Amino acid sequence: MSALKFPDGFLFGVATSSYQIEGAWKEDSKGESIWDRLTHDRPEVIKDKSTGDVACNSYRLYEEDVRMLKDLGVHFYRFSISWPRILPTGHDNVVNQAGIDYYNNLINELIANGIQPVVTMYHWDLPQPLQDLGGWTNPVLANYFEDYARVLYANFGDRVKWWNTINEPKSIAIGYSVPFGFAPHILTPGHGQYLVIHTILLSHARAYRLYEREFKATQGGKVSIAASCQWIEPTTDSEEEEEAAERARQMHVGWVLHPIFSATGDYPPVMKEWLGKKCKEEGYSRSRLPSFTKEEIELVRGTWDYLGINHYTTIFTYQSDKGEFIFTDMGVARIRHDKYAMAASGWLQVVPWGFRKLLNWIAKEYNNPPVLITENGFSDHGEIDDTNRVDYYIKYLCELLKAVKEDGCNVFGYTVWSLMDNFEWGAGYTERFGLFHVDFNDPDRKRTAKKSAEFFSKLIKSDAIPV
Ligand code: NOJ
Repeated sequence: MSALKFPDGFLFGVATSSYQIEGAWKEDSKGESIWDRLTHDRPEVIKDKSTGDVACNSYRLYEEDVRMLKDLGVHFYRFSISWPRILPTGHDNVVNQAGIDYYNNLINELIANGIQPVVTMYHWDLPQPLQDLGGWTNPVLANYFEDYARVLYANFGDRVKWWNTINEPKSIAIGYSVPFGFAPHILTPGHGQYLVIHTILLSHARAYRLYEREFKATQGGKVSIAASCQWIEPTTDSEEEEEAAERARQMHVGWVLHPIFSATGDYPPVMKEWLGKKCKEEGYSRSRLPSFTKEEIELVRGTWDYLGINHYTTIFTYQSDKGEFIFTDMGVARIRHDKYAMAASGWLQVVPWGFRKLLNWIAKEYNNPPVLITENGFSDHGEIDDTNRVDYYIKYLCELLKAVKEDGCNVFGYTVWSLMDNFEWGAGYTERFGLFHVDFNDPDRKRTAKKSAEFFSKLIKSDAIPV
């Protein structure tokens, strides 16, 4: 069998998220989200001062989106549901029927075209009323997330068999810690990020357990989280640098995955120890990493049916106490390696071998769970002839194939980020990840297939990398 061929049954899909594509931000009784609030009240935080008010207008154009998916030949479509479109107050006292209808139409259209829906319950558009209560820093959100999850399972679970609870917890934490242009853009340096992840882990677990208790027997679907997992590579191969990089991996990837996927049901031991020591040195009488109770450990441990991984790049580190965000606490700083090409996003360097290393690390760390790559992609400025994107995909997919076929990593599917150009958060429309170009100056938001769309449709048809 050719080295470029995927194993039988390997699944391919593409992804988007509600705020990034839907538009219709206040139509049909949708509630306000933290992204509506941030882009309207503090436009200076977004690079081009844009908003997702219209975005790709997928609220109106979803049938066209499905036609594009059909042309690509994907097996599944990963999209997210807007919590405030379903529950405008954030609570389940009011269920917005127009929101339910929209997602029912989308799901039905997908299924009619032979495309499986993979649904993310939360991709960053928190209802503003819940932010007014403290957002993800308030553990009460776990109650409200469970209520929201029940509405989703009850309305869509007869047709949706793949659920991602929460997309990229760490990116959500960024919105509560550093000025990276992410909502709610509240800076609680050092502390907020740990509270946010703690609440998110409990919320994920509550949604998982709810499914297990009340829906799994009748609906038979699978639930997991989608975590951002970049590879961390030390800049030199000294033992100390490798030790620091491994600590950083544990505190970056393990922060979210260890409590769910390890047998301990808790944060990584090195993270607890390192942060405990650091906080003491800084004069605090308690660690800023919250503790789980025994019951919470039982609640969180094992709440997965598969593992969703978003991977884009490799972070090169060296020991330093001058890092940013969580890196300060890890005792490392990051640098860009001149050797590797950059995407349009300042954080995205093209380091294909990091993908293989990451997949092996995950397999070893968590006993080789079934992995769905929930995102992988490359940004440019919107070129239709996007050879750099095609090149990125060829290289990353070759590494993925080596991880699967040579190393035995249990990856069963792969998702492109993204179906089409869309609102790239703090970067607005200045960075484009799509297989389809979207003309944001056109009121009809014309979509045009790029070279990468052609590449993927060939790949999916032949089940092999077309080179
Ligand atoms: C991860 C996020 O889930 C997605 O929303 C974002 O657009 C991509 N990364 C690219 O930055």
